[in-house]
Amino acid sequence: MAAYEYETHNYDVVVVGAGGAGLRATLGMAEQGLRTACVTKVFPTRSHTVAAQGGIAASLGNMGPDNWQWHMYDTVKGSDWLGDIDTIEYVTREAPRAVYELEHYGVPFSRTEEGKIYQRPFGGHTTEFGEGPPVQRTCAAADRTGHAMLHTLYGQSLKQNAEFYIEHFALDLIMSEDGACTGIMAWKLDDGTLHRFNAKLVVLATGGAGRTYFSATSAHTCTGDGGGMVTRAGLPLQDQEFVQFHPTGIYGAGVLITEGVRGEGGYLTNSEGERFMERYAPTYKDLASRDVVSRCMTLEIREGRGVGPEKDHIYLNLNHLPREVIEERLPGIAESARIFAGVDVTKDPIPVLPTVHYNMGGIPTNYWGEVLNPTADDHDAVVPGLMAVGEAACASLHGANRLGSNSLIDLVVLGRAAAIRAGQIVDRQGAVPAGPGAEVEKILDRFDSIRHADGANPTAEVRLKMQKAMQKDAAVFRTAETLQEGCAAISAIWKEMQDIRVTDRSLIWNSDLMETLELHNLMANAITTVYSAEARTESRGSHAREDYPERDDENWRKHTIARLDGNGAVSLSYRDVHTEPLTPAEQGGIDPEKIAPRKRVY
Ligand code: FUM
Repeated sequence: MAAYEYETHNYDVVVVGAGGAGLRATLGMAEQGLRTACVTKVFPTRSHTVAAQGGIAASLGNMGPDNWQWHMYDTVKGSDWLGDIDTIEYVTREAPRAVYELEHYGVPFSRTEEGKIYQRPFGGHTTEFGEGPPVQRTCAAADRTGHAMLHTLYGQSLKQNAEFYIEHFALDLIMSEDGACTGIMAWKLDDGTLHRFNAKLVVLATGGAGRTYFSATSAHTCTGDGGGMVTRAGLPLQDQEFVQFHPTGIYGAGVLITEGVRGEGGYLTNSEGERFMERYAPTYKDLASRDVVSRCMTLEIREGRGVGPEKDHIYLNLNHLPREVIEERLPGIAESARIFAGVDVTKDPIPVLPTVHYNMGGIPTNYWGEVLNPTADDHDAVVPGLMAVGEAACASLHGANRLGSNSLIDLVVLGRAAAIRAGQIVDRQGAVPAGPGAEVEKILDRFDSIRHADGANPTAEVRLKMQKAMQKDAAVFRTAETLQEGCAAISAIWKEMQDIRVTDRSLIWNSDLMETLELHNLMANAITTVYSAEARTESRGSHAREDYPERDDENWRKHTIARLDGNGAVSLSYRDVHTEPLTPAEQGGIDPEKIAPRKRVY
């Protein structure tokens, strides 16, 4: 047994992660008078939400007609009919209220001439239930919307006396014998101390796992830590096979160039100078949904019409846009293009390539953020004491494919919903539970064994192998062959990880140890992704199987539930999609006929 001392903290709520979802949940909990701590491995305003550029979707109707039912329809269609309809209704209906709250908290949105929040077009967002022209629904603070949100939400959380534990790395969940979450253990990176957080409610807001792949728009901190923690607690992950490729990552660097560029009038061309999206998506062209645009770009490259000496990427053109549009609305990407591609966007196109951007899958939750552990009898069974929000979670707002700018609205609406629910279920007067000491010992033993790991394989080598295998075998297009190769490769890498080498044994600023702990979390995400993908024999949203090109609603309109044991074995089961809206049509809800499954064309 490892002998480590730790400090104990007691809270009503502990939120893990300080991105948009974590901060919105923290703020909401604190506003309700719950004693709230936010534990985060990076400084809050450095969380990956800071990189969100284009904006946040809400049917404010500032630039033309719009309503939440149109937004709901677009999100259902965008999800390729895998999204949970109750979640989609809740988010799209609450979106305007959540955005006005942000405005009142102080987010510096760009403005129209009349002083309203400026909104731009984004892919897959339309009018008239997909029959009308694109809608301007994405509320923007230039092309730095996530940055503006994070700073505002952090300031507001401090104002509400939420307590922050910054640069504390969450190790694992403390679970009770009867399966409730009672807290977390964390390691403080700058002084090496260990901390036990007991809580009535733990909220995982740890972000995505983009770094399972070699080329991603995600920060290096996006290591799927929440997913790793829940799998080690014996809980499942959902719909891991659905990984979004953003059409416009800068070629080579992977840095995001916002879809807002196409929203403002930019377009893609191939080596023949052709605006090829007109051929694939005649109505919405470059503003078709992301999975569609990414596949079309990949096809153009495969068919020899890529640009550059190796014909392996595509051009994004915006040099025809008025200079003031670039200066006012897209200053950040002009800077990124200059730094990372050496391009002056007023003169030359940006070289781009579909790049891993977002995980639609994650920790299964309902739309209140409560974590689910489906059983045969109850697909919606709730895990007491545990919530998840943001990209770490899968409330299935996005189903098989997320629409651009629906991520930021997910963070704030569902972060806020988690706080509302916490206000109802957390007993303010009750005692904070102290989970079993044996669980804490187990967590510390694992930490100690990784700290002293003395195997043959350096962490960086194992991580690179994982990233290359994911990039190659679980790509934009997939087949049984590539996915089976992927399963074999990732399982072999899992074994190599058991023989890992950590060279630094210290506890203070030990990035070697932290990266190894992160690698364990990444691998839990990677292995569940490839096995879930191999099993799903249809094409839906971002999961494009060349050997099964059609969507198969009869057999596959269901969520994948992946469980992982300590030996790297993945077992799969399935969970029903929620197909019923919350509001009946006669009370102003959407007409169910409008969202009945049909062929998805843009
Ligand atoms: O293209 C973008 O600005 C990204 C937005 C998003 O992923 O929602």
